[in-house]
Amino acid sequence: MADTLISPEAVEERVALGPLNRWWPVAASWMITDKPQGLTRLGEKIVVWRDKDGTVHCVQDRCPHRGARLSMGWNLGDRLACWYHGVEVGGDGVVKDVPAVSDCPMIGAKMIKSYPCFEHMDGIFVWFGDELHEEPDEFVFPEEFESDEWSAMLCTAHWKCNWVYAVDNVMDPMHGAYLHAISHSMAAGDKEAKMQVDETDTGFVFGKSDQRDVNFDWIEWGDSGAFWLRVSPLPYRQEAGPGGNFGIMGFVTPIDKDNCRVFFWRTRKVQGWQRDVWKFMYRNRLETLHWDVLEQDRVVLEGMDPGARDKEFLYQHDTGLARVRRILQKEAEAQLAHGAANAGAPAAAAE
Ligand code: FES
Ligand SMILES: [Fe+2]
Repeated sequence: MADTLISPEAVEERVALGPLNRWWPVAASWMITDKPQGLTRLGEKIVVWRDKDGTVHCVQDRCPHRGARLSMGWNLGDRLACWYHGVEVGGDGVVKDVPAVSDCPMIGAKMIKSYPCFEHMDGIFVWFGDELHEEPDEFVFPEEFESDEWSAMLCTAHWKCNWVYAVDNVMDPMHGAYLHAISHSMAAGDKEAKMQVDETDTGFVFGKSDQRDVNFDWIEWGDSGAFWLRVSPLPYRQEAGPGGNFGIMGFVTPIDKDNCRVFFWRTRKVQGWQRDVWKFMYRNRLETLHWDVLEQDRVVLEGMDPGARDKEFLYQHDTGLARVRRILQKEAEAQLAHGAANAGAPAAAAE
């Protein structure tokens, strides 16, 4: 078997930019129009746009001619045209036309990476695969994403911190009672707790041993083709209208090493007229309150030194986040080792 040595720096870099071979939300639906949108996600420059039917496409944001950003070009309905010299590229990464030259050999060739993508629950999900996984795995949706019983509202924001810090924050239920002590939804409950870990099919639940359904009492880490975080149902006050507690399905997508985009779907098991009431109240009143809470998270995280992790002292409440960090590290190691072994395979076979 190939002996593949992966440097700790390479693993650290892969973790910092997010492991590959997963689906990641890259934008909210409303952020993507027919105007090509250049984005950086997982350290990769991509361009996302809608064709004439409204279907979303995503390719590498690099013109195969001389490298201008395709996101600066034109949407021709079924392809993009580069602003610089007009080369036309489809959503499959294939050059469709080179209007400045007749019979250009670029035509018909797949010259840039194309990314599988789909739209769901007002979010746009993109598959980031390595060379061995260009075809996507299935994203098995969490219940809130596929059942009609649930209603969900997406809020998304850019945070100036590494994505793992944002994941750490969600994996840390205890911060609710402190950081969000003055908030509409997280002020209740004990300020001291013992924590425990319970395994699930897709990850694990990390939560308070002796308090449930009072505050941010547990958090679930899931990996079902995408990494997701399910926050325990939080109590809404009476004035939040009919329906029970609200939950949060969270995703954090790396932009680069120092920036990420958070996606939080506020979920509630409400149907029919109650759903309409909730959506109405959400837009008119509750959303602002939710943003206030998120701002508290953002301010603390952005205020932390990028190297804060090098000097931290973790205690029992940090077991959940430490576990996720280990999972991410193992995933990055396995991915890099797999890639390196594969790159070495033909040489080994030739001996
Ligand atoms: S760089 Fe895009 S057409 Fe020349
Ligand atoms: Fe928070």
